[in-house]
Amino acid sequence: MSGGNGSNKLWGGRFGGAPSEIMEHINASIDFDRRLYTQDIAASQAHCAMLVETGIISSADGAAIEKGLAQILSEIDAGELNVDPKLEDIHMHVESRLTEIIGEAAGRLHTARSRNDQVATDFKLWVRDAIDGIDRALADFQRALLAQADQHAETVLPGFTHLQVAQPVTLGHHLLAFVEMAGRDRGRFADARTRLNESPLGAAALAGTSFPIDRQATAKALGFERPAANSLDAVSDRDFAIEFLAAAALCATHLSRLAEELVVWSSAQFGFVSMSDGFSTGSSIMPQKRNPDAAELIRAKTGRIAGALNTLLMVMKGLPLAYSKDMQEDKEPVFDAADSLGLCLAAMTGMVRDMTVNTEAMLASAATGFSTATDLADWLVQNLDMPFRQAHHVTGALVKLAEDKGCDLPDLLLEDMQSAEPGITAQVFDVLTVERSVASRTSEGGTAPARVREAINKWKERLA
Ligand code: ARG
Repeated sequence: MSGGNGSNKLWGGRFGGAPSEIMEHINASIDFDRRLYTQDIAASQAHCAMLVETGIISSADGAAIEKGLAQILSEIDAGELNVDPKLEDIHMHVESRLTEIIGEAAGRLHTARSRNDQVATDFKLWVRDAIDGIDRALADFQRALLAQADQHAETVLPGFTHLQVAQPVTLGHHLLAFVEMAGRDRGRFADARTRLNESPLGAAALAGTSFPIDRQATAKALGFERPAANSLDAVSDRDFAIEFLAAAALCATHLSRLAEELVVWSSAQFGFVSMSDGFSTGSSIMPQKRNPDAAELIRAKTGRIAGALNTLLMVMKGLPLAYSKDMQEDKEPVFDAADSLGLCLAAMTGMVRDMTVNTEAMLASAATGFSTATDLADWLVQNLDMPFRQAHHVTGALVKLAEDKGCDLPDLLLEDMQSAEPGITAQVFDVLTVERSVASRTSEGGTAPARVREAINKWKERLA
């Protein structure tokens, strides 16, 4: 070892002794940052090509480095990474292996570069890929919702507020609400991606470098829009990871709300939907059980993803410029949140795609709880020119009457109606069915099947 005395061979020049085992343990990130190897090698390839292009290293050394990096990539792809905690992280593992393969020339790759700009670059590339994967998964999720919405543009179920029956809505409309949420999630990830896409490479340790590097070239080679403008900011910025986690936490929050509805809807008391065998589990003691475990786990993993956001915010809070080792703690929450969200999206997409809807149960439930009371009040306004507040009052009296008689609004007799308001005619019964209720809600963004069809067609075009 060039460091001598068992000290680290990459930075051990000024050290006499080796780090303690505990130090090695707390310092090492290889167990998790090995996931950055593809990005690390891609960034090294871009850096090496630029060093050759600018004449900072010879083309012979460049060619050797290029060849060695390609070999390392296929080795790690094949699962051959010799993990040594002494080598701390993925950057040192790659450099150390490169030295084994090509010898001294390997030492030239780190010219005009630091692990600080290296890790920021690698991590940005990783998060960028994660964003692209989640965007695809969100589009699949939207397609699954849309397919069910298409099937159920006319299916009526109770719309709730306070989880109390409010007004009838169509299932298509309900599902499209989640298509909208997923659309905003995609917008947030895309927005984070735009701001992320500036290259830290070439910021070096923190101050830039005296070598005549070409940051435009490395930025371009790695698909970045431009080099990050300020070297201190470039190495200390983790906004991109925090923004990713914020978008992930909100996206998971949306999934958790649908998950909760599926849990409730699939209960025997509601019986609105049944999950496919593929997305249900049984009980080891109660043979009758069909549990919506996937939905429950999505609900729970949302806590984990929101926790990851909080973790990274707390890691970054109060850090002075530029790099601090604290920032090594940025990766695990991001990896865990990305994995969890990817899994949640896949599970939710499968559940939605495969679920069976019990349209009769939804319809029967929609007609309970005086769900067309607002339609009655609206009828009084529209046909008797009554101020809405008074119509609300009259309708309230009729709801009470129906409650006393133990029937629903459409079951009241015309005489009953007229006892509360003599002007009411038999026409009122036309608006009291749930089908008429939803069909009448044709305002922009409303629940009428005609509006739902319109919205479905718009989304189909957007997702094509
Ligand atoms: N493993 C480190 C990390 O993930 C790489 C950067 C190390 N830089 C340093 N100055 N020690 O943050």
